[in-house]
Amino acid sequence: MADAARMPASDWPSLGFGAGLRAEHYADVLSAPAQLDWFEAITENYMDSFGRPLHVLESVRRDYPVALHGVALSIGSTDELDRDYLDRLAALAERIQPALITDHLCWCGVDGAVLHDLLPLPYTEEALDHVSERVRIVQDRLKRRILLENPSTYIAFDHSTIDEWTFLSEVAERSDCGILLDVNNIYVSARNLAFDPYAYVDAIPRRRVGQIHLAGFTDMGSYLFDTHSAPVSDDVWDLFRYTSQKLGPVSTLVEWDAEIPPFDRLVAEVDRARREAAANSPSATERSNAEPALDPATPGR
Ligand SMILES: [Fe+2]
Repeated sequence: MADAARMPASDWPSLGFGAGLRAEHYADVLSAPAQLDWFEAITENYMDSFGRPLHVLESVRRDYPVALHGVALSIGSTDELDRDYLDRLAALAERIQPALITDHLCWCGVDGAVLHDLLPLPYTEEALDHVSERVRIVQDRLKRRILLENPSTYIAFDHSTIDEWTFLSEVAERSDCGILLDVNNIYVSARNLAFDPYAYVDAIPRRRVGQIHLAGFTDMGSYLFDTHSAPVSDDVWDLFRYTSQKLGPVSTLVEWDAEIPPFDRLVAEVDRARREAAANSPSATERSNAEPALDPATPGR
């Protein structure tokens, strides 16, 4: 708690606790009294739709804050930014007036090929300049700040010279964007690449974090696979309690994209997030007693 008291508050408003809006739950969301505080919509599912999905999203938006969460910005690609995509994103944002616009720290294709995946970047000074400049271009086009999410990773590049947490923090500082901190992704990547997930959280500048993601992974034996098909794991709840204690109130969202449960089960998972965020974290207390508090003036924090 000492860290949270000393560091600048987040630049971003806290929307409370929400869930990803999925077609399987449209009827529940539209008919049920408010059980969640806000929703996140996958941007591309609504960009070119003028049918029921967009109608549903507009109905949801009348009652709740909404975030637009993209999977195709490809901010790290060396291809030119897709101006048509940005125009369509800007039009959707104008229509929905989202509380947040987010995408991933990744690349999705090159030389015109779209690989439909969130691929990791080499973390180098060159990539840092490249991504930071592209985020500035996107924000200028949208006339608003975006948030970038840390990806789940399964490999690291030998020629990376910067830790992911430093790279992400530095992109946020250089481009004045926000960070969507996916706690599950931190844990998955930490297990796959053998780093300390708590050190990752410690290195992220609190005021840049505008949203937290939670999700479930699948243990494949030799690695963890970010499937969004299961409840949040106990280890990720531990890391989330620690993160919440470090950061204070941050808009928090549960993603569940495969083996999607009944809406009540999803609401129960979000309610658990609400309880865990309010709970004391012994590990956080121990760590903040054992370690010096972060200096908010330290570059890269
Ligand atoms: Fe996520």
